[in-house]
Formats: sequence, C-alpha cells, structure tokens
Amino acid sequence: MSGRKKLRSAVVGCGMGSNHAENMFKSNEFDLVSLCDLKRETAVKVAANTGEPEIFTEYEKMLAEMDVDVIVIATPTLLHASMTLKAIDYNVKGIYCEKPMTVDFGEAKRMVKTCKEKGVALVVGHQRRMNTTFQTMRDLIEDGIIGEVYLMRGLCAGDFLSDGTHTVDTIRHLNGDSEAEFVLGQVHRDLDTADKSGETGKRFGHAVESGAMSVMHFVNGVRAEIFTGDLRVQGYNEKYPGWAYQDIEILGTEGRLWRNGDGADPQITIWDKQAGGWRGIEIDKNNGVSDFVNVFDQFAYFIKNEKEHPLNGKNALKTHELVMAVYESARLNKKIELPLQQDHFPLKLMEEEERL
Ligand SMILES: NC(=O)c1ccc[n+]([C@@H]2O[C@H](COP(=O)([O-])OP(=O)(O)OC[C@H]3O[C@@H](n4cnc5c(N)ncnc54)[C@H](O)[C@@H]3O)[C@@H](O)[C@H]2O)c1
Repeated sequence: MSGRKKLRSAVVGCGMGSNHAENMFKSNEFDLVSLCDLKRETAVKVAANTGEPEIFTEYEKMLAEMDVDVIVIATPTLLHASMTLKAIDYNVKGIYCEKPMTVDFGEAKRMVKTCKEKGVALVVGHQRRMNTTFQTMRDLIEDGIIGEVYLMRGLCAGDFLSDGTHTVDTIRHLNGDSEAEFVLGQVHRDLDTADKSGETGKRFGHAVESGAMSVMHFVNGVRAEIFTGDLRVQGYNEKYPGWAYQDIEILGTEGRLWRNGDGADPQITIWDKQAGGWRGIEIDKNNGVSDFVNVFDQFAYFIKNEKEHPLNGKNALKTHELVMAVYESARLNKKIELPLQQDHFPLKLMEEEERL
C-alpha cells in the first residue's frame, strides 16, 4: 500500500472505540490523528497505544480543528445520528458508525440519505458479517451442505436493539440478505434490574426491554425466530452450555448447522447426512488478518470508491428496520408487514403510553 495517501482519521467515544483506534493505528490506510471522549483520561489511555494522537473532549471542536477525512463514532447509541450529521457538515469522506446505527427509524433513513447525497461512505459496525465463522457458515449454506434452509434460530443476551441487531444482521447475512415480508414480536421489561450504569430500563441513553422474542418471515420462504435478553434465563446457559451470545442454528432439509455462541469451541457444529451425527467444523482463525483490520481496510477502499463495503449503511438500514418492526409489533400487538411505516422508536412510544 505504500504510496497511497493515508486517510486522516479520528475516533469519538473511547470504549468500543478504543478497538477501532488500535486497528486504524495498525492499518496502512489510516492516519489516526485524534481521539475524543468526554472523559479525557479515557482517551489518554487509548492514545498511549495508538501513537499519541491529539486528544479532545468536545466533538465539534475536534471536527473544526482537525480537518479529518474519516470519523469513527463509538459513543452511546442515542448520539450516533446527530454525530453522523455533524461530521457531514465538516465534509468528512467516510463515517464508521457503531451499531445500532441509531434509535428512531426515521433518523436512520436520514443518516443513509444524507450520506448518499453528500457522497459520504457510511459503514455501520455489524462486523460479524465479515468474520470467519459467519463467512464459513454462509459458504456452507450456499454450497447446499444442509439442503434447502427453512428456519433460522438466534439466541442472544442483552437487549434487542443493542445486541439483537447483531443477531438480526447475521440472520439476514446467512439468508442471502433476502427482503423480509413480515415480523411478529413481543417484549417485556422488568424494572427490578439495572444495567451497568445503574439505570433501570435504559441502556446507551435509550429505553430497553429486558426480554424480546420475534418471528421474521422472509420473501425467500425462510423463517427466523430470535430470543434476546432475560428470555435466556440465568443458570440455564451454565447448565446447558452452547446457549450463549449470538448462538445461531440453521435448519435445512438435509441437516442442521449450529454456530455455538461466542467463545465456544468448536465454533460451528453440523449435523448432515454424510456425517450421520454432529461434528465440528475447522475454521482458519489465524489467517493473519484480524477481522477488524479487514473491516477497516475495506472501509478505506469504500471511501476511495474502489469497492462497496459489506457493512454499508444501506444494508444496515434493512437490519434496523427489522429491529424497529419487532418493537412496533409488540407495541401494536399485531403482525407488521414490511416496509415499516413507523419512523419513531416504538419502545419510547410504549413508555409514553405506559404500556412497557
Ligand atoms: N460492534 C460491536 O460489536 C460493539 C460492541 C460494543 C459496543 N458497541 C456499540 O458502541 C457504542 C458505545 O458502546 P461502549 O460499550 O463503547 O460504551 P461505553 O460507555 O463503554 O463507551 C462510550 C464512550 O463514549 C464517551 N462519550 C459519551 N458521550 C460522549 C460525547 N458526547 N462526546 C465524546 N465522548 C462521549 C464516554 O465517555 C465513553 O468513554 C454503543 O452504540 C454500542 O452499541 C458495538
């Protein structure tokens, strides 16, 4: 890559953003020039491992002074949309926005539309789409190893918006990004439990439920069932290992493929006619390039108009629409046909209507 001009880059929000800063620092494509966090000491710690970029505690001041090409937004979700639009005002070329892209569906549409109008490359952090495990699963499915797929099941701790967005995006990815036809969803909230911030019923600045269940039907005939949050009961997982974070099972006419949740070994097991039982599948996890480095290298090619990014904003919008449709289904107690007509955040509406 020598001879290519590096993209002047900055990261705002140094929690998850610290990973991105480290990956950009290692990449040949990016020149990490600044970090921003409300807590200066948080940014200072990250700067020590990333070439001591300039530190800011005010986002707009950083944008005004640093003249960056690329911004990575890894602040709490409620800030994603306004920070994306603000970066566009300062003429950035590329935005990597953490998932979920925002809260209200209307805002998500605005983010994608404005980026398109201004020629800004928008990527959303559904990085699981690009990891070796899910790529391997997608290849196996496409090769027809389990026949015709008819059902996908996903299980995930956390709330449906913050963590379930990965499950929905992975299911869409494994299902060849088929359009969804309808969704049916239900949620419950238990205000006896608080998240790490100590606030009940809130996470990353927005309302959350404690547990959600949903069914999604896709136009290619595949159905998905997803359970998130405390519907994955504490103790149950420990007793029956495998029911973990982003645990995904694919049922086909000739067998079953199962992605055992994060950290499990083997990552994938399969039951197929050939094996006559469950067997593990070897995955090359040491191919020399970490998943995130690949995500960021491709981000640079996307900004330079060389190749569309698998995590592009338009695609992420489809995932966000499904997540919001599940909440809307819970709010209205009915099946929701896509495309979604509700632009607001249904959980917030449910709070206002005192029905959550
Ligand atoms: N892609 C993934 O797998 C993944 C993993 C974790 C988190 N996330 C997403 O990343 C986002 C942040 O999550 P996190 O776990 O890093 O949260 P966090 O609370 O650990 O970190 C957020 C950081 O943003 C800073 N911040 C808050 N408001 C700010 C502002 N106005 N200006 C500058 N800095 C500000 C906070 O001080 C904090 O250091 C969330 O949207 C979350 O969903 C994605």
